[in-house]
Amino acid sequence: MLTVAVLISGTGSNLRALLEATADPGFPARVVVVGADQQADGFAYAEAFGIPTVMVPFREFETRAEWGDELRRHIDVWTPDLVVLSGLMRLLPDGVVDAWAPALINTHPAFLPEFPGAHGVRDALAAGVRETGASVIVVDGGIDTGPILAQERVPVLPGDTEHLLHERIKPVERRLLIETVRSIATGAIDLSVYRTGARSDASASDPL
Ligand code: GRF
Repeated sequence: MLTVAVLISGTGSNLRALLEATADPGFPARVVVVGADQQADGFAYAEAFGIPTVMVPFREFETRAEWGDELRRHIDVWTPDLVVLSGLMRLLPDGVVDAWAPALINTHPAFLPEFPGAHGVRDALAAGVRETGASVIVVDGGIDTGPILAQERVPVLPGDTEHLLHERIKPVERRLLIETVRSIATGAIDLSVYRTGARSDASASDPL
């Protein structure tokens, strides 16, 4: 059974979907802890499923590295096999990426490498593209630059706002995330082929 830690910052709709999927006794993974960098609405889903929560407020630390070390210390208590960044709106410091990679994945509301960063949906709309998408990647030291594990296109429709488009992308993101976690749990995806430490060079995105 693959044990999973999920890190969030906000609503936690992807977290909710993962909790529902993993509650099925036939699903080969379990969420063992949910962490956040601030008081996040998504904690309510964790509590509803009886999953412990950990809140390490980013703003209370002098440096990103100190915050990351404290977050890692609290999450590692649960010895997760996999850490999922699902709407965590903070960059993890290099030391934490190095410690968890390659068992560290991220969901992103765009078809990477298109539109990386915190505003992937807004940037796709501003660019006037006709389709964008959703991706699940292995985290490396860059911003949404790691190896792509799963992705799917989502059309941009006339009249789309950032909110409308994001709400259409999110169900795709959730499905890809659940499929990816299942594949990691069954061994269909072998994360050990990726060397994605934060300090590795550009070629780190390539499988070994
Ligand atoms: C997701 O689209 C995630 O990829 C992005 O922020 C959103 C989080 O949504 N970084 P939620 O908190 O799971 O509802």
